[in-house]
Amino acid sequence: MKFFIDTANLEQIKEAQALGILDGVTTNPSLMAKEGITGEENIKNHYKAICEIVDGDVSAEVIATDFEGMVREGEVLADLHPQIVVKIPVIADGIKACKYFSDNGIKTNVTLIFSSGQALLAAKAGATYMSPFIGRLDDISTDGLGLIEEIRLIYDNYGYETQILAASVRHTMHIIDCAKIGADVMTGPLSAIKGLLKHPLTDLGLAQFLADYKKGN
Ligand code: G3P
Repeated sequence: MKFFIDTANLEQIKEAQALGILDGVTTNPSLMAKEGITGEENIKNHYKAICEIVDGDVSAEVIATDFEGMVREGEVLADLHPQIVVKIPVIADGIKACKYFSDNGIKTNVTLIFSSGQALLAAKAGATYMSPFIGRLDDISTDGLGLIEEIRLIYDNYGYETQILAASVRHTMHIIDCAKIGADVMTGPLSAIKGLLKHPLTDLGLAQFLADYKKGN
């Protein structure tokens, strides 16, 4: 399973990259705003800065909600750097734009997926990735991981190559369950990624090893 980090914070991206396990980055307008990145030029420069840090795909989201606007914006974003993936909302014009981009060799990430029907349309439009938001489904007492399972089954039935990018991941168990189900990618916060390392028996065992070494040296 590929590990993406879901942030626009350059320090956190650097920290995840330094771990050697990072495969890409996802951002959205809210994450950009959280870092205080505003204005078209600043946002474009920030995407370029992210691409300089990581080796993998970097999702950059369009703001337009009409077909022509999404195509115009997406082409500008894709020209910024070869690692850019154009992120498009799963609305009718977004599906049309996704088809346009896939026909023209531009990578896409269809976002705000909350149902398997939306996932099916994204695959049919040739999306590179599509992002079901599991945490936000859990927030409204709906089974986010169940959606990942359903999409996995549908994509496998037909051999769709669109990658399931589990998004709105909030904690370590989301990551582990996504891996069990067979999501192609998960994107989550650095805290959830680093949380995978934590085990009290590892800490105790290491302390014991070091104490025993000291006794003999
Ligand atoms: O990748 C989607 C993500 O940014 C949404 O996460 O935690 O705001 O639901 P969250």
